[in-house]
Amino acid sequence: MQLRMPDAQRDFTVPPYEQLMAAVEAVRAAWDCRPQVALVLGTGLGDVAREIEVESILPYEQIPYLPSSTAVSHVGQLVCGRLCGVPVVAMEGRLHAYEGYPLWQTTLPIRVFRAIGAETLILCSAVGGLNPLYRAGDVMLVDDHICLMGDNPLIGLNDPRLGPTHLDMCDAYDRVLAEEAMQVALRDRIPLHRGVLAALRGPNLETRSEYRLLRRIGADAVGMSMPPETIVARHCGMKVLGFAVVTNVCLPDRLGPVGIDEIVGNANRAQPYLKQLLLALLQRWSQTPQPQGASVVSLV
Ligand code: HPA
Repeated sequence: MQLRMPDAQRDFTVPPYEQLMAAVEAVRAAWDCRPQVALVLGTGLGDVAREIEVESILPYEQIPYLPSSTAVSHVGQLVCGRLCGVPVVAMEGRLHAYEGYPLWQTTLPIRVFRAIGAETLILCSAVGGLNPLYRAGDVMLVDDHICLMGDNPLIGLNDPRLGPTHLDMCDAYDRVLAEEAMQVALRDRIPLHRGVLAALRGPNLETRSEYRLLRRIGADAVGMSMPPETIVARHCGMKVLGFAVVTNVCLPDRLGPVGIDEIVGNANRAQPYLKQLLLALLQRWSQTPQPQGASVVSLV
């Protein structure tokens, strides 16, 4: 196996706004289109990218200030094109804090998506299931989150061009989009839970006692990514829809060892459901385009 190491050569002393501008320029040079929707496809969930009518593919290494993706089963490229006729940009493979990158940097792509025009962000992630009714391979719509990552992508002197200092987080996940997703799932008989996602930094899975604690504080599932991306998306004014795929069941009193192969395997098993749901939503949006908000060109 070839180990890809985080790229230590890059200059991360440049202020976030300037980094964003440079990254936006690189993406626009490759794909000068305004996406309606941005997607982040996590562990074992890259299949949706195969459905995109590709107009451009950009490896993260070709975008200034984006770190390389080092996680297992995360390809590490932006796929730009059309999905059900809707212009989209998708991260095939996400960037995680556990790879050693600061959160403001793992979330830079989200700001790029907003700057090139995307107003809706769909986040998909592998998670451990804490709710005793959940089974491996189930999909959960993220209703809200509890971020226990001990870090925050907004820490540091806030640049008001990027968003407000004290971001409001009531309705972090868009209520209207969530209802729409539930309705589509019901209509098309796609099993879909709705619950609260907790996130820890990882990369290890949790102990029995940690799973017990997380369940007691109200979490239905636990992962290692989504909340920082949601925070940044809300900071730059995007609507967020989150889907969590249960890759392992985390019942503290019946916990067994689980490996990455099992996690990726169960994510793969759930992919057809998630894909069906995403395509049905995109299909809907292609017929009734969502209202476009204020132009984001001023940001660039
Ligand atoms: N814990 C945290 N993140 C995860 C898990 C888990 O059990 N499974 C998949 N992602």
